[in-house]
Amino acid sequence: MKVTVFGSGYVGLVQAAVLAEVGHHVICVDVNEQRVEDLNQGIIPIYEPGLTPIVQNNSQAGRLQFTTDAKLAVEHGEVQFIAVGTPSDSNGAADLQYVLTVAKTIAQYMTGDTVVIDKSTVPVGTADKVRDIIAETLAQREVSHQFDVVSNPEFLKEGAAVADCMRPDRIIVGSYDARPHDIIRELYEPFNRIHEKIIFMDVRSAELTKYAANCMLATKISFMNEMANLAELLGADIEAVRRGIGSDPRIGYHFIYPGCGYGGSCFPKDVQALIQTAETEGYRPEMLYAVENVNKRQKDKLPSLVKQHFGADLSGKVFAVWGLSFKPKTDDIREASSRVLIEQLWAAGAIVQAYDPEAMEEMQRAYGVRNDLNLVGTKEAALKAADALIICTEWQPFKAPDFDLIKTQLKQPVIFDGRNLFEPERMQRRGFTYYGIGRGESVKLSTVK
Ligand code: UDX
Repeated sequence: MKVTVFGSGYVGLVQAAVLAEVGHHVICVDVNEQRVEDLNQGIIPIYEPGLTPIVQNNSQAGRLQFTTDAKLAVEHGEVQFIAVGTPSDSNGAADLQYVLTVAKTIAQYMTGDTVVIDKSTVPVGTADKVRDIIAETLAQREVSHQFDVVSNPEFLKEGAAVADCMRPDRIIVGSYDARPHDIIRELYEPFNRIHEKIIFMDVRSAELTKYAANCMLATKISFMNEMANLAELLGADIEAVRRGIGSDPRIGYHFIYPGCGYGGSCFPKDVQALIQTAETEGYRPEMLYAVENVNKRQKDKLPSLVKQHFGADLSGKVFAVWGLSFKPKTDDIREASSRVLIEQLWAAGAIVQAYDPEAMEEMQRAYGVRNDLNLVGTKEAALKAADALIICTEWQPFKAPDFDLIKTQLKQPVIFDGRNLFEPERMQRRGFTYYGIGRGESVKLSTVK
């Protein structure tokens, strides 16, 4: 099939690459000339495992092409994906200007019947707006091509985007009627062979499904973080509680890891956007307020543990920070807990020596060159003469470090672990003062001097 994808960001680029990989002919269009030029040379703007070879191989095979020429792109596709960004506006609502501009562009250049697929995460009611703009523009052009608007939200996870797209758990397809079902089936046939993954529904339900999924996952995390804080006060260990409740299949083990708060480009933005949507309807989403507030408080957890240990004035202190990205296997630092920590350490006068396997360039871009930020090339170098180690992201190489080396490098053997990588009791035996999240025992142990 001939496919057009608007947007070469996370969602658009991965979608385009994966569709080309299974044999479709894909043109991906973006307004950013530099990005398009790079992509045509096989240079990938994001770090995403497995993506580079797919983009390069399919470009060479002629099944994947990047362009800034919207006319050429629209004329190519039987289906047109809208996969452009929906950043938050100043109220936290999703800003639809890019989505609607693309809808208009598609209508301006359409040469025949078309299915327009909305992949961007957009508030309920957006498909109606896309449909209206297309209808209006076609009327102005005085052409009467038939078109369908389909809501087909994306559920990929950063760091596992290619695998998630190749083997989706479900393919949500919201449409106004059954007319586009056949073409959608054909498009997704290669991903739908083993068992039926397509779930057809109306457009509004499809749009809400995306927000409901992300808000449910964010709720699970905030709930566990709330329990972790309680466990700490009660002298219980949240890691034991996690295993205890996860064994109930109705709860399950996934997404109940306590930590220093969720970040990334999706959860914070989508929770806020659904709050906005609810408020616009005159409804107070009490649960979503709580999910967001608990997460904000949780991001303060590491800095407050540090201040509890060292005092509020951290001038002259140096902290080793392991992990800057909002989660492992990505270079993305959007809404990362590490940033809240580091900004608070700076505000209290401290110096940060940080290491991350992928996110150092992003960090440099975000904060520029500063005397109180030292980005170093290895996790060991970050420890040198630091007052304590703080872990923000659970990258694999952080999970079995050389503890003796950590002890010899740090001024004092103190670790603040925002991801509960280690066992408090063992850490105490190794001679560390160890703070985890929600580990009542660790708080008790760490105060035994
Ligand atoms: C998420 C959704 O998982 C995905 O389906 C959607 O399409 C986009 O948003 P992503 O933001 O890439 O994906 O990352 P995810 O793996 O879901 O993690 C989000 C955040 O939650 C991270 O900061 C992670 O550290 C945190 N998290 C996750 C926890 O704190 N505890 C958990 O148990 C799971």
